[in-house]
Amino acid sequence: MRELFARDAGRFDRFSLSTEGLLLDFSKQLVTEETMRLLFTLAGECGVEGRARRMFAGERVNTTENRAALHFALRADRPVMLDGKDVTRDVRDTLAAMRRFAAGVHAGRIKGAAGRAFTDVVNIGIGGSDLGPRLACAALAPYSRERPRLHFVSNVDGAAISSVLAALNPRTTLFVIASKTFTTQETLANASAALAWLSKKLGRKPAAKHLAAVTADPARAVEFGVPAERVFRIWDWVGGRYSLWSAVGLPVALAAGMKTFEAFLAGARAMDAHFTGTPLERNLPVVLGLLEVWNATFRGAASRAVLPYDDRLGLLPSYLQQLEMESCGKRVTRDGQIVDYATAPVTWGGAGTDGQHAYFQLLHQGTQAVPADFIACCRPHHRLRAQHDILLANFFAQTEALAFGTAGAEARKLPPYRVFEGNRPTTSILLDELTPRALGALLALYEHKVFVQSAIWDVNAFDQWGVELGKQLAGRILPELGAGAPVSTHDSSTYGLINHYKSSR
Ligand code: F6P
Repeated sequence: MRELFARDAGRFDRFSLSTEGLLLDFSKQLVTEETMRLLFTLAGECGVEGRARRMFAGERVNTTENRAALHFALRADRPVMLDGKDVTRDVRDTLAAMRRFAAGVHAGRIKGAAGRAFTDVVNIGIGGSDLGPRLACAALAPYSRERPRLHFVSNVDGAAISSVLAALNPRTTLFVIASKTFTTQETLANASAALAWLSKKLGRKPAAKHLAAVTADPARAVEFGVPAERVFRIWDWVGGRYSLWSAVGLPVALAAGMKTFEAFLAGARAMDAHFTGTPLERNLPVVLGLLEVWNATFRGAASRAVLPYDDRLGLLPSYLQQLEMESCGKRVTRDGQIVDYATAPVTWGGAGTDGQHAYFQLLHQGTQAVPADFIACCRPHHRLRAQHDILLANFFAQTEALAFGTAGAEARKLPPYRVFEGNRPTTSILLDELTPRALGALLALYEHKVFVQSAIWDVNAFDQWGVELGKQLAGRILPELGAGAPVSTHDSSTYGLINHYKSSR
């Protein structure tokens, strides 16, 4: 890295790009112009642009589920056709329903059974029905109203919902049950606990006034007890981890208003236009995706870190974990061949500067290089300017230290434990400001980055069969936990653990 920078004073200019108030600096990646040229050639040979065109044209690119992947239609301002029908009409209807609902809750027109306005909203969902709205509500907190306050319950561990309910008043609490399938075990268990809590305090019928749902299967939601007019549609052509732009974003509209949600959609739409309309060499999602292929597949990095130097983006690593690992954590190509190259690395991370006092030791001096995305915002929403400078000083310092380490005559005298080798690749992303529009652009940037990787690795970015086996086995084990007798099926480890649990609970 030291050599690359010494050789080329214009490296930053050559290896940085910007769009939509977002600067992407990849000059601290271990790439030369030749590397990038070869990677762009690879993208061309793998047909990245053609594949993107097919996705945007509504082809059934999710082949194992025979579905299109039209998440971009959720923020489109022009028709998107599927089987001869413009799906954006339904999208607009749902957005209008969300607008009416959010405005009704804010104005106190939509209220609880006891006639009181909702002060609190609990989103019950998991995976894509949780991580996106949870992240967006945290990131857009400066745009949020004082009321209603938003809460999120995802884990089936009863501790999660118990602690949320303990602080709430059933008369003023609204639950949004978000589940594309409306069959997810965790979400249904939490929704049943919420309904029981409401029913106990308000009665079974009045409790329904405290429920709303977001799903692709409205009949199931109604059967559960959600009033039909409170069920917001999503469609099978949007995958859970790509669904934040749909009614799954209802908590964002409830917290920060529909205008904020629409600005968020507009940011993503601008990134869609950039992705589909910019040559590979200047295309931010393409460059970001190629760099990940370079690091994971060619340079053997088994993990990558996402390090937002912005407390409001603290949940971004978790959100991207699902987006990237569910999409590209695959070992089979689209036509069923086992791959003989590395696909997605493990995505992990957390907010800076916290990580500096925890796992950064390994990033600087461990035996493996972990490529990292550093993300920060130039302008904060708070007034503590001096603290923002401290935050950003650390942001700049860390990527500099990772790239260049300790060098020069002085460094040669250091004992080994004080030496920083450097040469550890990072990408820096600087947003002007964490506005709703900027957040939309940032998340869409990562969506398209993932798509680019999937095209090069030739994997289906829109299915997630890897989650199925565990679900099936849990379904088989659950009744065994209820039965009195010890279990003898399964392997000795699994039944040994089950029987220990049964005799110890
Ligand atoms: O089990 C994985 C998964 O299907 C995710 O892809 C999805 O986001 C999550 O479960 C929740 O699914 P649903 O919205 O249908 O409850």
